[in-house]
This record gives sequence, structure tokens and C-alpha cells, in this order.
Amino acid sequence: MKVGVLTGGGDCPGLNAVIRAVTLALQQRGATVLGIEQGFRGLLEGRARELLPADVSGILAEGGTILGTDNTCDPFADRATQPPRDRSAEALAHARGWGLDALVAIGGDGSMAIAHRFHEAGLPVVGVPKTIDNDLAHTDRTFGFDSAVAVVAEALDRLATTARSHRRVMLCETMGRYAGWIALEGGLAGAADVILLPERPYSVDAVAAFCAAREAQGLSTLICIAEGAHAAGEGLAVRAHLPGSPDPLRLGGAAERLQNALQPRLNCEVRSVVLGHTQRGGTPTAYDRVLATRFGVAAAGLVSRGEFGRMVALQGNACGSVALADVAGRNRVVPEGHELLRAADALGLCLG
Ligand code: F6P
Repeated sequence: MKVGVLTGGGDCPGLNAVIRAVTLALQQRGATVLGIEQGFRGLLEGRARELLPADVSGILAEGGTILGTDNTCDPFADRATQPPRDRSAEALAHARGWGLDALVAIGGDGSMAIAHRFHEAGLPVVGVPKTIDNDLAHTDRTFGFDSAVAVVAEALDRLATTARSHRRVMLCETMGRYAGWIALEGGLAGAADVILLPERPYSVDAVAAFCAAREAQGLSTLICIAEGAHAAGEGLAVRAHLPGSPDPLRLGGAAERLQNALQPRLNCEVRSVVLGHTQRGGTPTAYDRVLATRFGVAAAGLVSRGEFGRMVALQGNACGSVALADVAGRNRVVPEGHELLRAADALGLCLG
């Protein structure tokens, strides 16, 4: 059996741990594993190399992806030309030429949608859910999320001491796109006083009143704000438009925007920090190393059993799978009334 493996979309901690687990588990079953370079771009352009045990040795704890990745290439709508062109036949021809019996696609929502289309086009595909945003449908966790939350928690710990020393209001902007999971868990883990999520448009007046009350008590305030958070009636803070990309919006600037709105209303100084790609880089946490390993082994199991068109998923603490068709094009955001929101409320935190 010959199995291709690729990593698509934005990178995140734990990708190499999945590549290693998929490769070792399949090689144990006598399969050959082909590493496809730079996500679906490598499939489209015919770039791949065999992965030998030595290639995956020592990579468990390494950040990034040894295969490279790409978050702009969709072979079904290649935006290198205008209008975008369906070049999936070329990608399928490469898979056939390599003699692939199956493809393991490790990626986020965009990659799962593309993987689903390849499955429908006749390529046997298994998906593995990756993203720091934790926003894929039908899985309680994606690998990479725990590592991002750990970065946010550590940053908030550091910001808290300097904010306290100067009695400042300090804003910390997290990633997460249209979902607030990173800000919510990171904010709770880092003892933020205010947590602002895309799912709950905030009131500048309410946040300012909360900070002013703390200021009156001689307290600093730590605000953890998701990049997709915005005031009621206000649009997303957009840093850039990338027209060639499946999701052309690059978010950013939510913290600075709120900083500017708060500063005139408060006596103390208001400062902001954007964590950006520090949340995506570096070594995965032990939790993510284990989750990524479980996901890789589960993906190899699906391939061996011929269960295609499915994505590995964590439900509760059980590692199973769901139909790619049920994941494609869907996102999982923080639902109203979620237990962690109620916990934040119970602590008297401000949620906007
Ligand atoms: O989806 C992962 C993610 O890191 C988001 O949290 C963020 O909005 C986006 O990717 C950033 O993408 P890029 O690295 O292309 O700027």
C-alpha cells in the first residue's frame, strides 16, 4: 500500500508529531509513505518524497512542518489565474502517477473542504483536524490549540506583573479568527479580568466602566481580546486582504482599536500587545504531542480499514471519526451559555 500525507493551511505545533505517527503506524503495517510538499500545492505541482523512518526521527517535539504548508492553494479553484480555474484533474493525475492508494490530509477547515472534494472525485482520503483556533466542527479538540493557549497564558502572566507595577490597563490580542476559543481558554488560564470574543460583541462603555471601577480600587486590568472581537455595531478589525487566498481576510488590530477607544475614558495608561504568530510557532505542549500522536495513529487505522471520506475526531476523550462531508464548510464557535463563559461570569469577569 502507498499512502500520501500532506499538511495544509496555516502551520501549528504538533504537525510533525502527526506526520511521525501516521508514517510509523503505516510503516508498521508494511505501507510506503509519500510526503507531499507544501500542502495541496505539492499535489497540484507533483512535488513529493518518500518518508523513511530516519525522516521522522526526532521530529515529535519540533514546531512547524517538515513537509511545508500553504494556505492559499485550492486545486479546485486555482487563483493563480483569473477567473480561478479547476485544476483538480492535474492533482489527481499526480496521485495516480505516484500510485497512491490513499491520502492523509492534515489541516483546518479549508483543507478539510478540499479533502472532501478530492474524496468525492475518487481519491480515498482521510482527514486529521489541525488548527490553533480549535474551530473545526464535530471535534472537541484540534491539536495545536493547547499549545496556543499555553502561549497566551504565559504572555498574560508576564503582562500582569508589569500592568500591576504601573497600574495600567493592558490588552493582549490573540488569534482565533472568527472563534473565541483561544481568547476564552487563554484568558481564563492567564487570569484575565476582561475576556472579549468574536461571538459576543462588546460594549466599549461597559468595558471602560469595568476598568474605571478597578482603577478606583487601585487595580490594574488585564484584557484578553480575540482578533475577531468587535464592539456591537462595529465590523471586524482587518489587517490585510489577500485576494489569492480561500479566506482573503487577515484579521488584526482589535486590541489597538479598543485601546484607542478606552484611553480617553480612563485616567491610567492603556497599552496593547499582539501575540500573533508566537501562538503558532515552537514546540507543542505534552498534551498536543499526545493528541497529535493519537490522531496520527487513528488516521493510519482508518486508512488500513479502508474507511475513507472521514476525519479523525476527538469526542469527549474518545478518538473516533466523523464524515468529512459533515465537517466541510462548517465552523465551531463558542456557543452562548458555554460552561467556560458561565465560569467567567461566576468569577465576576467582564465579558464585554
Ligand atoms: O487559522 C489559524 C490562524 O493562525 C488564525 O488564528 C489567524 O487568523 C490566521 O491563521 C493567520 O493567518 P496567516 O498566517 O496567513 O496570517
